[in-house]
Amino acid sequence: MKIILMGGPGAGKGTQANPLVERFNFPHISTGDMFRAAIKEGTALGLKAKSFMDAGGLVPDEVTIGIVAERLAQPDCAEGFLLDGFPRTLAQGSALASILDKLGMALDGVINIEVDEAVLIPRLTGRRICRKCGSSYHMVFNKPEQEGVCGQCGGELYQRTDDNVETAQNRLNVYNSQTEPLINFYQEQGLLKRINGDQPIDKVFADIMKALG
Ligand code: AP5
Ligand code: MG
Ligand code: ZN
Repeated sequence: MKIILMGGPGAGKGTQANPLVERFNFPHISTGDMFRAAIKEGTALGLKAKSFMDAGGLVPDEVTIGIVAERLAQPDCAEGFLLDGFPRTLAQGSALASILDKLGMALDGVINIEVDEAVLIPRLTGRRICRKCGSSYHMVFNKPEQEGVCGQCGGELYQRTDDNVETAQNRLNVYNSQTEPLINFYQEQGLLKRINGDQPIDKVFADIMKALG
């Protein structure tokens, strides 16, 4: 299965990626996670990405497209993959099409998790993430069993630096102007599957599975 998870910041892409990976056993390719890992390791990629991420803007297309092209060419992607947070611009969408073409691959579907803007900001500001495995929690909507501790792996939970109100609002504006045009792009190709993301997490997952057939 080769799929893209789309949706605004906080729509639930990372949250839904977990059960999808369990189900399909494919690599979860999140450009946001890749950039955060690079920042943590202090690599050249991390240095390039940091200022854009801190401001809630997009890392330049040439940087982002390069790392995804490299990742998709790895042998573990041959049978399938889950792209989370890529593509995010029309230029990334066209680049992905030619990357997949060269690899002789085709997408099975594009899942668009739809959630009203008013719901997204509180989701972002209340989110906590596991330092070890990256699982997402929420202080109100998806509490860990033990405060501050990941239920999956026991790792420590932290708050992303871009999950403050101001940066979250910037990310939302960037999503509306740069990423939303991709919805039509995939709709025209007959690949788009619209999912109501403002439902309990399990129900969203069930709807995704149904949409994937
Ligand atoms: P990225 O890490 O991709 O951030 P994002 O797109 O803003 O999305 P999030 O990860 O914030 O949201 P999510 O949809 O994964 O939500 P989650 O499941 O965690 O990117 C970060 C930055 O990196 C970008 O701003 C940019 O700078 C850069 N970047 C990344 N990719 C790029 C690209 N392709 N090009 C250029 N730059 C790029 O859920 C959120 C919260 O809600 C959690 O607390 C969760 O528990 C809760 N929740 C989830 N589902 C539900 C539900 N159904 N009901 C109630 N609560 C829920
Ligand atoms: Mg995410
Ligand atoms: Zn964990």
